[in-house]
Amino acid sequence: MAGKIPPQFIDDLLTRVDIVDIIDARVPLKKAGKNLHACCPFHNEKTPSFTVSAEKQFYHCFGCSAHGTAIGFLMEYEQMSFPESIQELAEHVGMTVPVTQSLSSTPATQNLYDLLDKVSQYYVHQLQTHPQRAPFVDYLQKRGLSTKTIEHFNIGMAPDGWDNVLKTFGSNEFARKQLNEAGLLSSNDKGHTYDRFRNRIMFPIRDRRGRVIGFGGRVLDDSTPKYLNSPETPVFHKGSELYGLYQARKTNRNLDRVVIVEGYMDVIALAEYGVTNAVATLGTATTPEHLQQLMRRPAEIVFCFDGDRAGREAAWRAAENALPLLGGNNQLKFMFLADGEDPDSVVQEQGADRFNKLVDDAKNYSDFFFDSLEARVDISSMDGRARLVEIAKPYLRHVPVGVYRDMLEQRLAEKAQTTTQVLNKHLEKPAKIDSKIKKSSRSTSTAFSPVRIAITMLLQHPSLHAEVGEFNKIASLELPGVKILAQMLETLSENPHLNTAALLERARDSQYEAHFQQLAQQTLTFEADKLQPELNGIIQQLQQQAIEQRYEYLEHKGLRNLTEEELLEYKALYLKA
Ligand code: CTP
Ligand code: MN
Repeated sequence: MAGKIPPQFIDDLLTRVDIVDIIDARVPLKKAGKNLHACCPFHNEKTPSFTVSAEKQFYHCFGCSAHGTAIGFLMEYEQMSFPESIQELAEHVGMTVPVTQSLSSTPATQNLYDLLDKVSQYYVHQLQTHPQRAPFVDYLQKRGLSTKTIEHFNIGMAPDGWDNVLKTFGSNEFARKQLNEAGLLSSNDKGHTYDRFRNRIMFPIRDRRGRVIGFGGRVLDDSTPKYLNSPETPVFHKGSELYGLYQARKTNRNLDRVVIVEGYMDVIALAEYGVTNAVATLGTATTPEHLQQLMRRPAEIVFCFDGDRAGREAAWRAAENALPLLGGNNQLKFMFLADGEDPDSVVQEQGADRFNKLVDDAKNYSDFFFDSLEARVDISSMDGRARLVEIAKPYLRHVPVGVYRDMLEQRLAEKAQTTTQVLNKHLEKPAKIDSKIKKSSRSTSTAFSPVRIAITMLLQHPSLHAEVGEFNKIASLELPGVKILAQMLETLSENPHLNTAALLERARDSQYEAHFQQLAQQTLTFEADKLQPELNGIIQQLQQQAIEQRYEYLEHKGLRNLTEEELLEYKALYLKA
């Protein structure tokens, strides 16, 4: 892999960063014994089960079993990529990430972000100062938007004219190339290049971190196209971005419910009336990428659609796209407005309370799912019920195996007036669970082998390794986990200062990742001063066992058949075994 961040750097970073600072800045923590705690930002709860250990540099929620290091926390909470998290943490402690190509913010895209930000500020400035700004200002006022809301969404105007942006930002060939790459230019058949956005109200589109990545531009009258959007660019991907998500998160620290609406103006009008948890897709259907962005955090996602046919169809597409994501910590709901209404008109004409009431009354996913399917058959006849099973089956197969799927099957069986056994005979292979979506559940296993205890101790208290004594033979033992233990001891003797978080990060993307994460959360029942003797005892016993095994092996082979080297080994072992 080109441009990997050196593990050594990550080790160093994780010994300098304090996870408590990182989390506390985002989710204020309170002291609770040796650890700190808060209400979990990853699921909905009233009493704190989200704990942060300064010692292990690790967080863990006993409620939803979310867990990880400071890097993992930023990835989950800020939805950053792995390199982005590293970058953020490095900046926090004043370290410089070794320059690599894999960092998502390559210099080239960084320039695009900078340019888009400047152009956004330019549009805002035009709305404040341009001699022809009056019709734009009037339009926004007519739509009921206050200055505060206009500023909150950084709404601006692209003045009339072919080259305002081009002239202001495209002074040389390179700059024009950048403008084009940022999606701010259009060109005609004759190769003439000009501003893409002209004479439009400008809505900057921000990514989840607040960076401007593109624009939507609306005309002031009934001309078409009503909206013009940025094309796909290296930083703008229409199918995965949600308009207003950054603002919604900024306004609501714990965004436990998000309403997905259809238009920019819906998000903005709702915010004007104090409904600050709405986001919009950018004129596309809700994709799994959209949902994944949301599902890492809020507990409830409410789809809001028009009550007309198009709205119902769009809702069904969203429901289909959500199937592989069902059953986690998120609840999906659907709400439908009266024909001819949209959230903008509802909130303006009937107020925020009415809109919020409609959100409260939204239909559960399962109700919408079965209502939609039942509408296609005659449920009163046996043939209709059999048909219901047939059409439901392919959908259910996409739902991750788990309680939620079981319950959907149960419900289907009830509706079809049959049993789940009969259904399951026909449901075929279970859908594969997406490990990224499905959080690993806490182990309830009590079978704790000595090897496992040793790994857990080292993982949770890496400094114990210094006094464990000899362990050079244990890797040869045929016991589950022994290779991992030996590897861990080796890693620690080479890098004596690694902490829990660094060990966990070294296992990232390896086959041990999930296992390690689980062991890091396991409660050790030993008192603090018993840890070292316990661990030493286990390691010494394993070492002894390995020596005896090897001794027996050599003895079994027969002294005459040993090589010179083996003979020396045998003699040495004889003293120990
Ligand atoms: N859209 C688009 N291009 C169009 C029309 C619509 O990209 N020509 C997208 C925009 O993202 C828009 C969304 O589809 O916000 C919903 O369309 P619509 O309901 O018509 O727009 P509103 O945001 O409600 O705008 P307005 O109230 O000003 O008509
Ligand atoms: Mn509208």
